[in-house]
This record gives sequence, structure tokens and C-alpha cells, in this order.
Amino acid sequence: MSGIDVVAVDGSASVQRPPAEVRYADELRRLAAADEGPRPPGWVLSLTAARRFIVGDQDVGISRKFVGDPSLIDRALVSLATSRGLMLVGEPGTAKSLLSELLAAAVSGVSTLTIQGGAATTEDQIKYSWNYALLVAEGPSTRSLVRAPLLRGMAEGRTVRFEEITRCPLEVQDSLLSPLSDRVLAIPELTGPDAMVFARDGFNVIATANTRDRGVNEMSAALKRRFNFETVFPIPDLQTELALVEAEAGALLRRSGVTAPPRRDVLEVLVTTFRELRTGRTARGDAMDRLTAVMSTAEAVSVAHAVGLRGWFLRGEAGTAADLVSCLAGTAAKDSPEDLAKLRRYLEQQVSWRPGDQWRALHAARHQLPG
Ligand SMILES: Nc1ncnc2c1ncn2[C@@H]1O[C@H](COP(=O)(O)OP(=O)(O)OP(=O)(O)O)[C@@H](O)[C@H]1O
Ligand SMILES: [Mg+2]
Repeated sequence: MSGIDVVAVDGSASVQRPPAEVRYADELRRLAAADEGPRPPGWVLSLTAARRFIVGDQDVGISRKFVGDPSLIDRALVSLATSRGLMLVGEPGTAKSLLSELLAAAVSGVSTLTIQGGAATTEDQIKYSWNYALLVAEGPSTRSLVRAPLLRGMAEGRTVRFEEITRCPLEVQDSLLSPLSDRVLAIPELTGPDAMVFARDGFNVIATANTRDRGVNEMSAALKRRFNFETVFPIPDLQTELALVEAEAGALLRRSGVTAPPRRDVLEVLVTTFRELRTGRTARGDAMDRLTAVMSTAEAVSVAHAVGLRGWFLRGEAGTAADLVSCLAGTAAKDSPEDLAKLRRYLEQQVSWRPGDQWRALHAARHQLPG
């Protein structure tokens, strides 16, 4: 398991966000100890224990980490036990990356064999590269070989994560083809048995792709065939989303040294606002303008965190709906002045009729929007 501590022992600053296998090391240990189910070859947990790790089980003190349809988790785990990769697609901020991290931690005990896809991703970063000093001194050898996540995952029989795969150039995406179909990776520079790396049991790939970026349509058909696709949807109901935002923002605020927990009435306003601006429909069913900016649950969590920080560090209290106005501007009006105008219209027209102090405070603070 990874050697990253949640709290640094020498008093230096702690790791901001340790990987899932470190954050939940205790839960994983307990699940493995009590796990009597059959495990697919190379897995550290059975399917039922892995599912419990992700969707939670209050009776045995396992927290719920992903909120959503449990049958999605079952399908994802079954895909990973087959020889096809798993492709998680969906809107931004729907916890695709989180889910891929949790799945990798549950299946392989490690979630850090991760390739971050982007326009500049190269095959070197996926397969392998060379330590040039050693390469010059002694030529290509297993010593001078620098293993990238795909090679390591194959050799060690673990889950490899490929984030934002559709942002990579097509020819780079295609370097997954033979590892996924033939389960082998050739290293032509080496000779003898080292020139072929055969995947061990437990190796598979979880890729994520965002439907707002360059879409999955542009992936090659050959690569698409090697993945099972699962769509991750936004959280459908207000109360579930509210509970998640409260728990996540509360944890982030505690880590930031804020001792005032977020106020429920403020979060209710925040989550309702996000949902309405996301869907273009108010709680009472009126149509309104939806924003082009992403108003995801992940954004709601980070705005709730900012609201709490503002209240605490500026005034020594929990954040209020007035803080929300300032924090919203930076989220909602990122890429288009029209969004800012829509947000202003929303605060003018859709807020004043609602009962409650925090809705009134939101309306009263509307002039704090910049511009
Ligand atoms: N259904 C959900 N269950 C648990 N957490 C969620 C859920 N939806 C959103 N979140 C929140 O969003 C955060 C994760 O966002 P994540 O980065 O995984 O999303 P993403 O889909 O990968 O986004 P992007 O497409 O921008 O990469 C979580 O840490 C959590 O706070
Ligand atoms: Mg992501």
C-alpha cells in the first residue's frame, strides 16, 4: 500500500487529499478481513465487499462514498472483472473521477496508477520511457526502463485509471488497443523475455470522459469496442444532493480550520440555486434561463466551502446567503458575460418571492454581483 500519511508525522503540512486507499485504509482493512465472497483473480476484495466499500454499509461502519444508483456500481464491477475496460462518461462534476478512484482502490488496493489525459499526453506517459543517463551508460535494459502506469498495471495485475481519455490525441488513445485486446505490451528496445510484458490477473482500465469536452464520438470505433460504457448522472433529488454537499463541505471546512459547520438553511438556498440554474426550471416549475457554465454537485461543494471560508475568515461565523452571491459570481460567470446577466436576472426575479431569511438575504445581496 502507498506510504502517504494522512497527517505528516514530522509536523510538516499534511497531504491535502490522500488517495482513497489511504483515506479509507481502515475500512478497506476491515472489509478484507471479513470478506468471505469469491474474488475474481487478482482482486483484493470480492464484488460484494467492493460494492459495500463504495455505496457504504452503516451496520458495519462503512461510509457511503458515492451517491447514486447501486446497480451502476454492480455493472461497473462486473465490467472490471471481464476483459473489457470500463468507460465512465457523463457531465462534468458528476463524480466520475471519484468513482474511478474508489473502484480502483476497492479492486486493486491502489488508485494511483493514473494517466491524466490531455492534448499533450504522449505514449511515454502511458507505457514507458527511459532514464537517459542509464540508457546512455548501459543501453536499454530493465534498469533504464521507466515504467508508466499502463505498464505497471499490466505487470503488477492492477487497475489503471485513464482520466479524461477523450482529451488525448486519437493515436495516443489507440496505444491502449493491444494492451486491452491481446493483454500484452511490446517493448521493442529490449530483447528476450523482457521485450514482452504480459498482463497479470487483476489488470484492467477505467477511463473517464466528460461529455462537455471533445466527446466520446471522436474515439476510434476500435477502442470503443474494448470498453463497456456507463453513464454517471447528476444526483436526481434535492435532499440527497443537499446531504452530500453538507457532508463534503463540512469535511473540507474542518480541514481548512473552520470550526463553524455550514448552516443548513444557507446550504438549502445554495443547492436549490445550483439545481435551478443547472436545469433551467424553478422549484415551483417555472421555466427560467439555464446557465451555460457547469453547475455540478462538485461545483456546489466547492462554492459551499468558499462560502464557509468567507464567513469564518472575514467575520468569525458560518457563511450566509450574502456570501453566496460573491462566491457564485466566480463559478457561474466564468466564460460568458451572458451567464452573469442570467444570474443577475435570477437573483432579481426568482428569489424575492420565496419565504425564509436566507432567501431574503440572497435577494438583498444581489448588488454584490460584479459588473
Ligand atoms: N454522486 C456523487 N457522489 C459522491 N460525490 C459526488 C457525487 N456527485 C458529485 N460529487 C462531488 O463531486 C466531487 C467529485 O467530482 P469529480 O471530480 O469526481 O467529478 P468528475 O465527474 O470527474 O468531473 P470532471 O468531468 O470535471 O472531471 C466529489 O468529491 C463530491 O464532492
Ligand atoms: Mg474527472
